[in-house]
Amino acid sequence: MTFKNPFQLGCFISFMFLNTMLMAQTTDTNTKIEDLLAQMTLEEKVGQMNQYNGFWDVTGPAPEGGNAAIKYEHLKKGWVGSMLNVTGTEEVRKLQKLVVEESRLGIPLIFGYDVIHGYKTLAPIPLAESASWDLEAIEESARVAAVEASAVGLNWTFAPMVDISRDPRWGRVMEGAGEDTYLGMQIAKARVNGFQGKDLSQPNTIAACAKHFAAYGFAEAGKEYNTTDIGTSTLYNTVLPPFKAAVDAGVKTVMNGFNLLNGVPVTGDAHLQRDILKGKWGFEGFVISDWASISEMVPHGIANDLKHSAELGAKAGSDMDMESYAYVRHLADLVKEGKVPEALVDDAVRRILKVKFELGLFDDPYRYCDAKQEEALLYHEDHKASVQNMALKSMVLLKNENTLLPLAKDQTKIAVIGELAAEKNSPLGSWRLGSDDGTAVSVLEGLKQFSDNVTYASGPKVFGENANFLNEVVVNTEDTSGMDEAVALAKNSEVVVMVLGEHGFQSGEARSRTELGLPGLQLDLLKAVQAVNPNIVLVLMNGRPLTITWEAEHIPTILEAWQLGTESGNAIAKVLFGAYNPSGKLPMTFPRSVGQIPIYYNHFNTGRPNPEPNVFWSHYSDEENTPLYPFGHGLSYTNFAYEDLKINVRDDGTVKVNAKVTNTGDVFGEEVVQLYIQDKKASIARPVQELKGFQKVGIPAGETKTLTFILTDKELGFFNHKHEFVVEPGKFGIMVGGSSADGLKGGFTKK
Ligand code: NOJ
Repeated sequence: MTFKNPFQLGCFISFMFLNTMLMAQTTDTNTKIEDLLAQMTLEEKVGQMNQYNGFWDVTGPAPEGGNAAIKYEHLKKGWVGSMLNVTGTEEVRKLQKLVVEESRLGIPLIFGYDVIHGYKTLAPIPLAESASWDLEAIEESARVAAVEASAVGLNWTFAPMVDISRDPRWGRVMEGAGEDTYLGMQIAKARVNGFQGKDLSQPNTIAACAKHFAAYGFAEAGKEYNTTDIGTSTLYNTVLPPFKAAVDAGVKTVMNGFNLLNGVPVTGDAHLQRDILKGKWGFEGFVISDWASISEMVPHGIANDLKHSAELGAKAGSDMDMESYAYVRHLADLVKEGKVPEALVDDAVRRILKVKFELGLFDDPYRYCDAKQEEALLYHEDHKASVQNMALKSMVLLKNENTLLPLAKDQTKIAVIGELAAEKNSPLGSWRLGSDDGTAVSVLEGLKQFSDNVTYASGPKVFGENANFLNEVVVNTEDTSGMDEAVALAKNSEVVVMVLGEHGFQSGEARSRTELGLPGLQLDLLKAVQAVNPNIVLVLMNGRPLTITWEAEHIPTILEAWQLGTESGNAIAKVLFGAYNPSGKLPMTFPRSVGQIPIYYNHFNTGRPNPEPNVFWSHYSDEENTPLYPFGHGLSYTNFAYEDLKINVRDDGTVKVNAKVTNTGDVFGEEVVQLYIQDKKASIARPVQELKGFQKVGIPAGETKTLTFILTDKELGFFNHKHEFVVEPGKFGIMVGGSSADGLKGGFTKK
């Protein structure tokens, strides 16, 4: 090796030094783990693999015999490796102390929680954040969540959910990044980096968890806890890559799931967990089961009883048991009976201890338990500013026909209609266990900061009062009181801002729906208002794509605002009054009707894709083939023109793509420039288009930016029928544009 100058030599020496340090640190940790393991009894080892729920919050059904006395006893014996749903520095410290001081080896607990889009200060729901296509902002949002979560004693979040899903009936789409694998991969990485930071041992970083491994997003008919049955091409090309991206980003834990995948419960799937995740991908962290997913192998008809389910789970590589009580009750016996090799238990324990070491818990088990930090950091003003920024970027302008938006500052007579407009709870969205009810800024509050000419009418009641994480949301479909008052107000106003949508708790876990229209009497209200005043700005709040076909046809302006968290109303008001120019793009297709589901942009062609004079082509008799709003769609208060697509196949086989984008309007705007490819002919069918690059750019009015994308084999290849990653020669199509439905088109031949 030669060095051209002393600087290069210096860099090399520092690199080697750092490397040696890191290696020394790893060896040191490994030695410590081995020392500890050698001291542990079998029961203590199994204890590390056992996770209990706390004593209050539940995020699943509580198993029989799981009372507090037993939990305390097990904690003292060192039979518990982790707790979930215990928060607050005082509570965490109390339990940590119990274990550290009273159990024989004093191995600290790791405390997990569903910190999905913030702890106290809430960011938009993850699907909304994904609509920003802004990876820096998404990473920052996870960072803020980690700072607040670690301030209350937590050191592990069960996020990000990286499940790709094409089914908006499934309520959990609110928790993911949408339907696309490429976008999902980038977002998975951003979220893992945000939660874990650069150094996991810092007291404000927490371990992340990529879930649900694997294919839970394909639950049949969008029904929660349902079976998935998908082909291996979909598994390898669509489902697994975001998990791989999370692993490559260094995610410390992975959660499996409730689902059967092609007949095998993923919790008991050794091929997925041992061969692929820990084998091929070299994942060094640990796998946590989903809540009771080990014991649920009994109703799945795979395990005879709880003991058998423990055997299957442990053998398959589920390292930690969340709330099945299967390992703590049976795993030691299974080892003694020779049914589960102790080496598998050792492997699981090593993995769990490693994460605890990396979190710095052995140096200071109370490092996440500083009460002063808790007080100082929760709802911090900086966090509010950050989640507001995320909220601004997450909104998608679906339609703006009569350019009702942005509203003029001096606009007189603005009617604000809809129960959700005054809501301070629902906009927080689902999955916000740590936060406080009713703490969102409502749209009404936000608008009043911009204008004194706002008058409000709620219209008919939409949601029952008991909407929370555990209950089904009750929806009023009969009582029309409030309708007349709202219509009268609309009649006497210049412009009507209608805030309609789902309740925050109508999406999330266990919130599958078969109808995706506006719940209750909201569409009736909208129609009645539209009949007297068509100048409507419809602000949608929802946790999933909705079927808003009538709305899209009759309402001139529609802003998709999802559930934006704590700063909802402030962010929405800024967009409505033009203080921020919307820049989001849909991360999931909006269907015209439920019957079209699953509908997604990167589908395969059929053998009969084009209209025929007869009926024998691929279509519905009663519905269009196209979606209502396609993946990647989103407007701005300005317009962007695309031109000059250049495609250059370079000597090294990579492909350089250039396009010019001009802001043709008169305000600054941000555009998400999207690049799609189509592998026209391959050994297995490839989708009609696939996102393979995007850049979010801000362009001043009248200016042009030239964007460059480089496509490498990573973007051009796919997993073939033997599950090998291949890049096949032949023709490729390219499209660069502002949505999956439209753009500049070209192509090239790959040699
Ligand atoms: C069940 C959910 O599927 C999972 O995502 C969550 O992390 C656990 N419950 C813990 O609450």
